[in-house]
Amino acid sequence: VSTVTVQQLLRKETERLRQAGVESPRLDAEVLLTHVLGWSREKLYVHMQEPVRFEDRTCYTELVDRRANGVPVAYLTGHKEFMSLEFTVTSDVLIPRPETELLVERVIEHMSAAGPQGLVVDVGTGSGAIAVSLAKYLNRVRVVALDISTQALAVAAGNARRHGVAGRITFVESNLLEAFPPEARGQADWIAANLPYIASGEMASLPREVAGYEPHLALDGGCDGLDLYRRLIPQAWTCLKPGGWLGMEIGPGQAQPLIAALPRDNWIETAVIKDYAGLDRFVVARRWPG
Ligand SMILES: C[S@@+](CC[C@H](N)C(=O)[O-])C[C@H]1O[C@@H](n2cnc3c(N)ncnc32)[C@H](O)[C@@H]1O
Repeated sequence: VSTVTVQQLLRKETERLRQAGVESPRLDAEVLLTHVLGWSREKLYVHMQEPVRFEDRTCYTELVDRRANGVPVAYLTGHKEFMSLEFTVTSDVLIPRPETELLVERVIEHMSAAGPQGLVVDVGTGSGAIAVSLAKYLNRVRVVALDISTQALAVAAGNARRHGVAGRITFVESNLLEAFPPEARGQADWIAANLPYIASGEMASLPREVAGYEPHLALDGGCDGLDLYRRLIPQAWTCLKPGGWLGMEIGPGQAQPLIAALPRDNWIETAVIKDYAGLDRFVVARRWPG
């Protein structure tokens, strides 16, 4: 069996990913190799001339094959970083996106200024990325995390245990906020929602790694993508305390129609927050404090 070094293997597999049309071939090739070897990226750079064992090469080549077929890296490694925390992800949950961190940061900022306690809600929790990060960085808040998917809730609960915050998060299987705990109604300081917001007609034009591998239940937001948010808004109003905040992640062109769905008698301080790419990404609004 011939010797193949880390560097040779990386070159070869990067080229294969490039030819398959993968957007960041070198990065993906490195991340998958560190996963197989159990190394950090730093260690990989320092050991470029080291030979790679045959079994590791076989395993790596299989992963690269799947990546070349469009499987997202996070589903291959089984984890994804969000808010500097490591989250377990499976094909039952959406892979947390970096832009969602902006919503979490906004909640953390507000809640820190308002005092250490409180109740925050994550509706459509998926991997638990929002709920677990909030519980981790706001170490005295209580969190209610809801999802319609039993499988997603199991992944989220695992992530809560992994980060030592399971004791402060209540997981609820629920269609939007229908099963929100009755005793907590009218008490939430924040409701953060990253619900499906892709218009059904656009599902087919999503990149294959999204449409082909991420759960459609986590993506399809109905006719114009805003079906779930339209249903959520009146429910959120009853769960928030007067003066509490609702934050919703959206896609391009959705800010104005979503703002139009917030009745002016009930909601104030409505604002659009842009992401780092300068795109409208969140609508936030405050329940009328009176
Ligand atoms: C876009 S994913 C967001 C996951 C996670 N919050 C994040 O930011 O990474 C949307 C989530 O909403 C859930 N969902 C879809 N329809 C729902 C409904 N009617 N009620 C509650 N959750 C729903 C999906 O199962 C999925 O986990």
